[in-house]
Amino acid sequence: PQTRTYRWTVSAVSVPGTNGQRIVVNGQYPGPIIEANVDDRIMVYLTNGLSDGNGTSIHWHGLPQPNTPFYDGPSGTSQCPIPPGATLLYNFTLGGWTGTTWWHGHTDMQHTDGLYGAIVVHGPDDLLSLPCDSDHALVMSDIYFEPVDESLGPYLAETSPEGSPEPVPDWAEINGRGAGVHNDWKYFEVNVKPGTTTRLRLINAGSIAPLRVSIDGHVLTIIEADGAPVQPTRVPDLVLHVAQRYSVLVTRAEHDTTEAFWIRAVMVEKGFGYNNPNITLETRAILRYTSSNEDTSTPGLPLPTTTPGPPPDDADWDKLPAFDEWALRPPAAVEYPPPAGPALTLPVAFSVRQTQSQQWRSYINDTSWNVLPLSEAALLEDIAHVNEGRLGVAVWPGDQLVAAVAYGQTVDFVITNEDINDHPFHLHGYSPWLLGVGEGQYDPATARLNTVNPLWRDTFTVPKRSWIAVRILADNAGYWTFHCHIAWHLVTGGLFQIAIPPQAGSVPAVIPEDIKEQCRMWL
Ligand code: C2O
Repeated sequence: PQTRTYRWTVSAVSVPGTNGQRIVVNGQYPGPIIEANVDDRIMVYLTNGLSDGNGTSIHWHGLPQPNTPFYDGPSGTSQCPIPPGATLLYNFTLGGWTGTTWWHGHTDMQHTDGLYGAIVVHGPDDLLSLPCDSDHALVMSDIYFEPVDESLGPYLAETSPEGSPEPVPDWAEINGRGAGVHNDWKYFEVNVKPGTTTRLRLINAGSIAPLRVSIDGHVLTIIEADGAPVQPTRVPDLVLHVAQRYSVLVTRAEHDTTEAFWIRAVMVEKGFGYNNPNITLETRAILRYTSSNEDTSTPGLPLPTTTPGPPPDDADWDKLPAFDEWALRPPAAVEYPPPAGPALTLPVAFSVRQTQSQQWRSYINDTSWNVLPLSEAALLEDIAHVNEGRLGVAVWPGDQLVAAVAYGQTVDFVITNEDINDHPFHLHGYSPWLLGVGEGQYDPATARLNTVNPLWRDTFTVPKRSWIAVRILADNAGYWTFHCHIAWHLVTGGLFQIAIPPQAGSVPAVIPEDIKEQCRMWL
């Protein structure tokens, strides 16, 4: 394993042609990619260069943070925000994790303003022995013209109970390019050699919109979901909800590859401002067969003229199953049995509704975590408690929304989505096994749970008015956040935590002084 060291400065830049701002790293949007090998150590010196007085922090989405829960990133739950001008070193190992993920801001709604980038971790079983000749990450995101601080106030104060309250994104982009509204807006281009197989790592780094992704003239073969190997599954298109990732293999016979093809990402508008005629739902990138290795928008080359649909002579296209994330399975050759034995079941009811004073809030079990961030002093207490193995008063259900779980316990979370839209849920520190999904209320007598070959992943869609059941083995100590990844729901309280003490008899990880110092600087 290697140590990979990065020096990043977070700052805000304005976006030409819009009122928007982007929060960027080292001036780049999307931010720099982290590319590493399994078990490498990652060291990121993160400097807060924001001039608006706000703190900042970064979460390494999906990475397990073994023995370093305090470097997980969410402000107000695992660290205090890094004050303006200060630097924090995030220092962690990848702990066996491989696959496709991303990092993003986890203070206020900075991620909505663009504070994110890709993480690619290579491992020996990277490609499941499926050959691929090149590998490209596509960071895709919905985009708001307004700086998020300007839309959050009206959302919180929304007085009309009609329709969809969340601010509606204006367009989407792929690697910072694409929607084509501005004439000078170039398309991101993936350049591949004719006759080869390409791995595309699709990442939805957006704030609310699920993205339906397809490539004209190509079948997508899904091989990875959030780091989990997937039994290769051919689909005409797929949908990534916010924070989800898929790797797909794409290929065409050599004699068919003299062209450029559109890669399309369409915001699935149901659930956020349907009937809004002013938004551009589809964004595009280009898959170009060429001998050039450089991924870039090349001026002067013709744009694709392709339309959505199958490759020529594809007899199977019509028989391909429609994409269903809950139908994906691990490869037959690999087993991920969830531990048997008595499980602790934690029921989690999620809803989005207005308070009596008409403010929109997200609720877990009728409680909204609406005091983010915790006071720095309280947080310092909290993170000290969990790391020293003496948990504070953990309440479930209750005001604090912290569920205490014993080390080594098997835990089933049964999440019921009472809302009329789908919600992407994410657990920090773990990749739960996905045991089951069903409409309406969960009934243990009739629910069918898959404990034989469930997929595991860190972000999963809970369909509208449905339940899901996911399982973990609580073997990663720390305070871990569990939340809806739609940015508006996270910031308005759709979050709870699980608190897992260190294994009995083990030496608890000691919170580094520099993490505590972030809190003291605010006092
Ligand atoms: Cu992608 Cu709480 O995180």
